[in-house]
Amino acid sequence: MNSGDNILPSGNHPPRILVFDSGIGGLSVLAEIRRKTPGCDLVYALDNQAFPYGTKDEEALVVRVDAVLRALINRVAPDIVVVACNTASTVVLPRIRAHFNKPVVGVVPAIKPAALHSRSRHIGLLGTPGTVQRLYTQKLIDDFAADCTVVRVGSAELVEIAERKLRGSAPDSARLEAILAPFFATDAVDTIVLACTHFPLLLPEFQRVAPRTVHWMDSGEAIARRVESLLPAGTAALPSLPRFTAILTASNPDAESLIFGLEAFGCHRVDYLSVHH
Ligand code: DGL
Repeated sequence: MNSGDNILPSGNHPPRILVFDSGIGGLSVLAEIRRKTPGCDLVYALDNQAFPYGTKDEEALVVRVDAVLRALINRVAPDIVVVACNTASTVVLPRIRAHFNKPVVGVVPAIKPAALHSRSRHIGLLGTPGTVQRLYTQKLIDDFAADCTVVRVGSAELVEIAERKLRGSAPDSARLEAILAPFFATDAVDTIVLACTHFPLLLPEFQRVAPRTVHWMDSGEAIARRVESLLPAGTAALPSLPRFTAILTASNPDAESLIFGLEAFGCHRVDYLSVHH
């Protein structure tokens, strides 16, 4: 099926949407989907066994994400798959779309809307080390922001800080300030792209430490709109399902505090999936 087609739920259940990330970042996307289409059956899968993705090389990432998504699709039988991870989306989407006959929605850095929004023509790009140096990202810049100066910051530490925040530990403001400093080295940058789904979860802290007001741009709402456009018309009238199931790829000592954070986000059940790759 073409990913632009409207879909019907398979069987007699509300549309089931699988939202996938390496860690907790995709929750920022899940929250937007839940806000727009609260009647959908949401399954949140995170690859905590192979986390983090942002420092992996492209080949290893493609093999891993392909294996995990195949196993997840078999287990969950979703109507739509949302790859809620910029790092994965920028390398694996064509491969996943080739073997899944339902829509696959990916997240790509919001460079185009940022370029449309920026008056100063200086934009910041904050992603994982993988995303900020990827060819895919460079192509987005060439296509949509060729007349902008782009300040890039790739941070794996920020991903860890977001993970720890969900597990209950408050981000260290001095560290955040230091990581964001390149954007504020001059007065020029007026728009910053949050090109990692973990980062909207730190937005209140970013706003607090930023030395001046800038526009922070992420892709969550656009993804939720895309998902909504793929759903059958009656979906908006379905009774809301505020709770969701989570699937983890590893059960380890960290999983307990992770599950605690997921529950606070509305998760009511945790399953495990083992993937050998
Ligand atoms: N949340 C992911 C992203 O959007 C990546 C985090 C990681 O595993 O490094 O890029």
